[in-house]
Amino acid sequence: MSATPAIYKFFADYIYTKTGITYLEKDYYRLDSRFKDLMEYFELDNVDALYDMYKSNITPDMHAVLINFSTNNETYFFRDKRPFKVLVKEILPKLMDQYTMGLINIWSAASSTGQEALSIAMSISDKCDDKTLSRVLIDATDISKEALKKAESGIYNGLDVQRGMPITTLMKHFEQLENEDWKVSKDLKSKVRFSEFNLLTDIYRKNYYHVIFCRNVLIYQDKQNKENILNEIYTSLKPGGYMFLGNGESLIGLETNFERETYDGLTIYRKPIE
Ligand SMILES: C[S@@+](CC[C@H](N)C(=O)[O-])C[C@H]1O[C@@H](n2cnc3c(N)ncnc32)[C@H](O)[C@@H]1O
Repeated sequence: MSATPAIYKFFADYIYTKTGITYLEKDYYRLDSRFKDLMEYFELDNVDALYDMYKSNITPDMHAVLINFSTNNETYFFRDKRPFKVLVKEILPKLMDQYTMGLINIWSAASSTGQEALSIAMSISDKCDDKTLSRVLIDATDISKEALKKAESGIYNGLDVQRGMPITTLMKHFEQLENEDWKVSKDLKSKVRFSEFNLLTDIYRKNYYHVIFCRNVLIYQDKQNKENILNEIYTSLKPGGYMFLGNGESLIGLETNFERETYDGLTIYRKPIE
């Protein structure tokens, strides 16, 4: 692969502008595998041809493919376990007390292929009472159309379901298909609504969510974008609502109005009740 600095810069700038995902000059080499995927997809045999194609006009399809290949969609069921336990044991009971009527809206804000949102739904279904379950609705969004397509299908392969999911949970909420893939049950799927959402550029619902999971996505953003996204999330939360970050992510060094609370050694972030 022999991309020139101008080619790396062109793609790095485009990806940054559209997604906030930052490729610093020292990391440009990481774009090589993205170029390879794109060249394969568009059946081109060199990176100059790819550059010429993108430079002349970026169609919505070319945009979507570039975004799909530029995002890291790594995820798995019950990732880091604790957030799901803390949600059902500590947070939902509190929110059910504070908000006694209507829906409890939860948002998996960079849900990738859906495992995070489904893990939330399974945790609530398995550990909360029917009343709580009936009041919860989960929005699951991502910028990657390809990831959302898989999430929407509700179908996962053997490897996906082996990563992080206890067998009893699998048997309860999934059925095995003839080709040995696993399909999530209709009941569970009905708790989750998938849609496209760019955390950097789309318009956030105001004062709407009781809980927001924003995990393992801010790491790809620079400080200013992180603060912008966190402030949007703050306005999107209801008073007393909670935000969960990924393992190892924190608000240290960032300007936000969140309050910190710790449960079972896990720090989560709350919008004050006022
Ligand atoms: C590493 S995955 C994390 C998935 C899940 N939250 C978890 O922790 O397992 C990061 C996801 O963020 C999405 N993403 C990256 N930039 C985004 C943006 N600007 N807006 C929305 N989603 C974005 C990617 O498409 C990817 O699916």
